[in-house]
Amino acid sequence: MDITKDIKYVGVNDYKTDLFEGQYRIPRGMAYNSYVIIDEKIAVTDTVEADFTREWLSNVASALDGRKPDYLVIHHMEPDHSAGIAEFLRAYPDATVVANAKAFAMIDNFFGVGLCKNKLTVENGGTLPLGRHTLNFIFAPMVHWPEVTVTYDDADKVLFSADAFGKFGATDADEPWTDEAGRYYFGIVGKYGAQVQALLKKVSALDIKIICPLHGPVLSGDISRYTSLYDVWSSYSADTDGVCIAYTSVYGNTEKAALSLAEALRARGCGSVTVYDLARCDMSSAVAGAFRNKKLVLASTTYNGDVFPFMREFICCLSERGYKNRTVGIIENGSWMPLAAKVMRGMLEGCKNLSLTETTVTLLSSLTDKNKEDIEKLASELCG
Ligand code: FEO
Repeated sequence: MDITKDIKYVGVNDYKTDLFEGQYRIPRGMAYNSYVIIDEKIAVTDTVEADFTREWLSNVASALDGRKPDYLVIHHMEPDHSAGIAEFLRAYPDATVVANAKAFAMIDNFFGVGLCKNKLTVENGGTLPLGRHTLNFIFAPMVHWPEVTVTYDDADKVLFSADAFGKFGATDADEPWTDEAGRYYFGIVGKYGAQVQALLKKVSALDIKIICPLHGPVLSGDISRYTSLYDVWSSYSADTDGVCIAYTSVYGNTEKAALSLAEALRARGCGSVTVYDLARCDMSSAVAGAFRNKKLVLASTTYNGDVFPFMREFICCLSERGYKNRTVGIIENGSWMPLAAKVMRGMLEGCKNLSLTETTVTLLSSLTDKNKEDIEKLASELCG
């Protein structure tokens, strides 16, 4: 597939893996992207996950059409992109590996010292002329590992963006970009908002026509649509004026309270309402829902003097990703000693700029008329 006259797509689609990075469900597959830039000098960018190296090398050979690559450019050393380096160098032993010093240290750690016969260490702001194309290297530490580099090709105005702007799903997954890009962003890069902001600042002066990420589709057209969303997400703002309700329930009573609140919110017509049953939904979808919406409601039963385990995991996922700047409401249930609200408030203490609602709904087993009144009060507060 041609991205431009000189840039060819040589990535692969993975429909075999059930959990990406050992935890994220990928029901519509996953793409590991790699590109070949054909010029006076030829550069291949990144490799793919280990199970797909043979298919990738075949794609590379087709794109090269009998020529030999001069460079293998490494943007990111996580194994979903770097597993094929040794195989590549067996096929093309004279190629020069282009990476920054941190990436070369990781190559030694992953593959042993001495794998790369020819090395070119790049600096932040460094360039590599290929002929008509010149690669401009921009370091993007912690988007998503410390060695990450993105590259701008000023001839075709292409940004090779590493993990940034990637999404779950194979390249032929028939779905809009935003939801799965959001689940990918908040799952994998969400903790590093400040670093993503720094990258956006660095690339803001560039005239970018095409983004070639390491996952998901190549992005073109209105590029600001993608960079604006990344700006919102990485500044911990909401892109949706809605309420995310996340609940856990043992016998259905806490669920009833959560669903009653959803109904009360919808009746007031105050934005979108999304409900997640944390025991059954994909946790990363719920995490993305919490970050993408302006308001969050946590509903949990008390369990072993704590919150229910799925709720504990969910709040940990939020706090370790720097969850902040949101309004949060709480529903708790506890048949003889409700403690869930206290525990959840405590777990959120490290999250900055959270505004807790005045109303907390406390169930002592099942939903009472007083609870129903409190749910209406909470709905009014959230809609206010
Ligand atoms: Fe797609 Fe951070 O690797």
